Amino acid sequence: MAVDVTTTDEWQALRKHAEAIRGTHLRELFAADGRRGERLTGDVADLHVDYSKNLVTDETITLLTALAKKVRLADRITAMFAGEHINSTEDRAVLHTALRLPRDASLVVDGQDVVAGVHAVLDRMAAFAQRVRSGSWRGYTGERITTVVNIGIGGSDLGPVMAYEALKAYRDAGISCRFVSNIDPTDIHDKTVDLDPATTLFVVVSKTFSTQETLANANQARRWLLAGMDADDSAIARHFVAVSTNEQRVRDFGIDPENMFGFWDWVGGRYSLPSAVGLSVMLAVGPERFREMLAGYHAVDEHFRTMPVERNVPALLGLLNVWYTDFLEAQTHAVLPYSQYLHRFPAYLQQLTMESNGKSVTLDGTPVTYRTGEIFWGEPGTNGQHAFYQLIHQGTLLIPADFIAFSRPNHDLGDMHDLFMSNFFAQTAALAFGRTKEQVEAEGTPADVVPHRVMPGNHPTTSIIAPKLTPSTLGQLIALYEHIVFTEGAIWDINPFDQWGVELGKVMANQLAPKLTGSTADLGDVDSSTAALIRRYRQQRGR
Ligand code: F6P
Repeated sequence: MAVDVTTTDEWQALRKHAEAIRGTHLRELFAADGRRGERLTGDVADLHVDYSKNLVTDETITLLTALAKKVRLADRITAMFAGEHINSTEDRAVLHTALRLPRDASLVVDGQDVVAGVHAVLDRMAAFAQRVRSGSWRGYTGERITTVVNIGIGGSDLGPVMAYEALKAYRDAGISCRFVSNIDPTDIHDKTVDLDPATTLFVVVSKTFSTQETLANANQARRWLLAGMDADDSAIARHFVAVSTNEQRVRDFGIDPENMFGFWDWVGGRYSLPSAVGLSVMLAVGPERFREMLAGYHAVDEHFRTMPVERNVPALLGLLNVWYTDFLEAQTHAVLPYSQYLHRFPAYLQQLTMESNGKSVTLDGTPVTYRTGEIFWGEPGTNGQHAFYQLIHQGTLLIPADFIAFSRPNHDLGDMHDLFMSNFFAQTAALAFGRTKEQVEAEGTPADVVPHRVMPGNHPTTSIIAPKLTPSTLGQLIALYEHIVFTEGAIWDINPFDQWGVELGKVMANQLAPKLTGSTADLGDVDSSTAALIRRYRQQRGR
């Protein structure tokens, strides 16, 4: 059995240190060190990361990096990049970093030339994307494709839709994408109701090609398409492509493997955007932009792979998250992009972070004795400011928050971007330093209102600034968070790459489905609550 990390000297030292600095205010830390705002920063590719407004001292960082060394973080990073089977419960390598290796790199894993395979698929995707974008790929009736509908869920949806939205300014071929994920029939209904089947291409994305939601939506899409064009099955080849690791199931569904783009079992769903799963994004922004995104990822991968922990930005941010979760009792972590185009980024991060680190046993199966996996959430600023920031400013919970922004806007309209960014700078300063009772009184505030207007401050934030939201900086941001997640998982000694917790619900839904349609009156051994709910449902549904 592996050593429980809480029993190590390094963990115990952090525990003591947490008690010692608990009462320290960021006001004091900044007052004591005029250079703190420049010192406690790091750069990774184009991302400048300022972590000075976190509840840490130099000693905290020293102790956290000692903990990283204790758990051999560097060795674990090396093992991942080398393709060792670190996803132990599924006996798989974890090689999303190989998806963004340049063409001339080399990596042989389990006897496979991984880089050659990756670039062969990228080249096929690019050739296909060029045909669709140029109009040389035609639909069944000879028309150009103008709308791509991505059908997938989880990692087969959240990455593509997030990146498609983020790179809106780079769409350049008149192709728009829609994303159908929910098995709620309203999703596919609404996304297809105003479309012309003759100009629509469906990209069915499923690593396993067995996901209930995706197959149900893909079947409905096929019915809609054939009925709408009064066509036979031969139309499928012009209007359906698949992205999957499972060729046989793609074939069984009726999609020609010629129209399939593969990936590999060593790519986890939530890490799969830079694989063929990103096809809809490539169709919208073009192969060149897509490759720029991969290069952005790769720059951060190289930093994470090679930098010592003291200067390794993703590692430091991961360690900070452990600090808040395990030593300062934070349970959630806000991600607040000051970029409207990143409006799906928090949702994307929820799967990346929570499906990865929502685990409660260590790699050898022992229950953990410490907290793992924060709740990630957020909305773009400034909208969030007028909704939930009140609780961050004056509530009783500790909520570390990441503020993400870009110096140059994608659309420069007068001084609007400067006004926007003034909010970004103001919020992190207000959260850190607040407003004291004395300051509020000095403004002539009535005595009974003073306590309500005092802003306690001392709320930790990390500011991440890049020059501009581009395909490259988007790739960098995603890789940054991937490696933050990895670092946390390493400290917690859990497996961030499986997701057994979502399986039970899937199995039970499949068992319950026949009981809802009315064909099976007998509810069998369903518990009394669920049985009563199903009876009510059937009655109201007229089953
Ligand atoms: O929700 C569980 C999950 O397995 C995710 O990890 C995955 O991204 C999603 O389902 C979709 O899976 P697939 O791509 O195989 O359809």
